[in-house]
Amino acid sequence: MPGLISPATLDQIRAANDIVEVVGSYLPLKRAGANFVALCPFHKERTPSFHVNPHRQIFHCFGCHKGGDVYTFIREYENLTFVEAVRRLAERAKIPLEFDTDPRATQTRFLKDTLLQIHEQIAQRWHAALTHDAAGQTARAYLERRGVSPDAIGLFRLGYAPEAWDDTVNWAKSKGHDLALLEQTGLVVRKEGDTHCYDRFRSRLMFPICDEQGRVVAFSGRILSGDEKTAKYVNSPETPIFTKGKIMFGLDKSKRAILDAGYAVICEGQLDLIACYLADVRNVVAPQGTALTADHCRILKRFTDEVVLCFDSDAAGQNAALRALDDLLASGLAIRVASVPAPHDPDSFIRAHGGPAFRDLIQRAQGFFDFLLEHLCATHDLASDRGRLTVTRVMAEALHKTANAVLLDAHALKTAQRLGVSPEAVRAEFRRAARAAPAPSRPRDPNPAPTEAVPAVAPSSQEFWLLKLLLLDDELPAWAALHLDPLWIQHPLVRSLIERRFAAQAEGNWRGVAALLGETQDPAAQRLITEAVAEHREIKHRAEQLADVVKRQRDQYWSREIAALTRQIADPATDEAARLEMLRRQQQLRLAKQQPLQALV
Ligand code: CTP
Ligand code: MN
Repeated sequence: MPGLISPATLDQIRAANDIVEVVGSYLPLKRAGANFVALCPFHKERTPSFHVNPHRQIFHCFGCHKGGDVYTFIREYENLTFVEAVRRLAERAKIPLEFDTDPRATQTRFLKDTLLQIHEQIAQRWHAALTHDAAGQTARAYLERRGVSPDAIGLFRLGYAPEAWDDTVNWAKSKGHDLALLEQTGLVVRKEGDTHCYDRFRSRLMFPICDEQGRVVAFSGRILSGDEKTAKYVNSPETPIFTKGKIMFGLDKSKRAILDAGYAVICEGQLDLIACYLADVRNVVAPQGTALTADHCRILKRFTDEVVLCFDSDAAGQNAALRALDDLLASGLAIRVASVPAPHDPDSFIRAHGGPAFRDLIQRAQGFFDFLLEHLCATHDLASDRGRLTVTRVMAEALHKTANAVLLDAHALKTAQRLGVSPEAVRAEFRRAARAAPAPSRPRDPNPAPTEAVPAVAPSSQEFWLLKLLLLDDELPAWAALHLDPLWIQHPLVRSLIERRFAAQAEGNWRGVAALLGETQDPAAQRLITEAVAEHREIKHRAEQLADVVKRQRDQYWSREIAALTRQIADPATDEAARLEMLRRQQQLRLAKQQPLQALV
């Protein structure tokens, strides 16, 4: 696929996405001389070693040595493939991609763009209605009663859909939106066999549902009255821009906090999530009233390895935790469960006991299997054989899904303790259950990490310096190409990068370090490049330095040859004629080393 995006387009997209702006939309950047610095998002640190260089349009971390151009940053930060990163940045800059220009793709993109626009516009309209209109007063009072602050209303862009059957319909007409298109947004409903449309959301508190990029793709609307006859929540149907199982409420706002905390809290409802935010727990997402799906788990896995389930204390909430198990285990996420005491859900718990108590609850969340054991012991009669058998069986089945022998053994012990039987007996039962059950599939990782290249030996400081000079300076490569034989370079990556630099020189198409990075897929090469050009200080007398380094590279290359010849000469298997020839060659090399550099012929 990357082959389908031309280098010219890649350059164009790169040029349209200033790295300082893009990185700055994720991290607070501080100016430091010619560069910008921040705490590195890719490793834990206290003092900023993450540098963004606006001139070269690259970033580099002196702590963890990650580096690259704007594509690399987006890929690493958002965990995207190269093509996804390109697409993301192309969208950001509104540049169409070649492989998206066939008519059908263009049409789909146009439709999606229009649906997004309508969602954005109606989100603004409902937000204004909530914050300013007289009709929004009931909703404002409701939110105040529930402790949702004006800041939170602003951050989550909550809104109010007025009490009317045709408010959205009329608004859309006034805006000139086609009704058929409006129907596709799911904001209005058409009765079967009728030409008449009416509003889906009426007299409701509106929660915009955003995709990972923060674009409104759907809504969830809550009633404001205690009317038992109408559904408490009405949600957008699936549309070309909204797939329920793939969107998690809040993720656009909590990504950063999830990366920072190292785990994600998962709660059930929008108001729970907002309450978490107000309690300063921001690494939180909500799967939107559906069960947690395999897709949700996969999305989360891009940001973290651990989740803390924080479901309601009611049976539905507990069962939701249990139902999610298979998908969670399959995704390879470690799971803890925070037990919200009855009769609370996170939102009511926070209001009753405060933020600190809630944070404590999250901190003390127990491992999933401890939760499961507790849950089973609380719901079964341990005095009966039947109860004990069920507990053993369910524990065994759940544990086998992890395919982890250590977990299995540790929990055999705990189960035995709870049941008051010997650990051997439980282990034996667990083994039997394993034979009865189909072979556990290993936690599957749908996006296995690209096999990290064998940690390469770092180049010598001299070769690193050589690379630095040739990448930093646009004048030097012309001379170097005439005087430096790439064979003299020992480090394979440095050699291949310099060869590429020379080739660009020869073909007259050097497009700068950022372009070189863009063409480089190998993370080790990307690191090397950014490390080389992330300059600390001005380099003086570059030409002299280069000449000096090139000569040393040459002489060291010849020294290695001389040493190799010495070994062969000493080898008894070498015949006399060959030995003489080698001695002559050695002499020649020693003399050559004393010569100044000459242009290669
Ligand atoms: N939900 C839904 N449709 C419903 C009920 C619930 O889509 N008829 C979803 C909503 O996303 C809701 C979540 O499931 O936020 C959890 O439902 P519930 O616990 O019943 O609601 P709360 O979030 O606690 O809402 P509230 O506190 O306002 O009652
Ligand atoms: Mn609630």
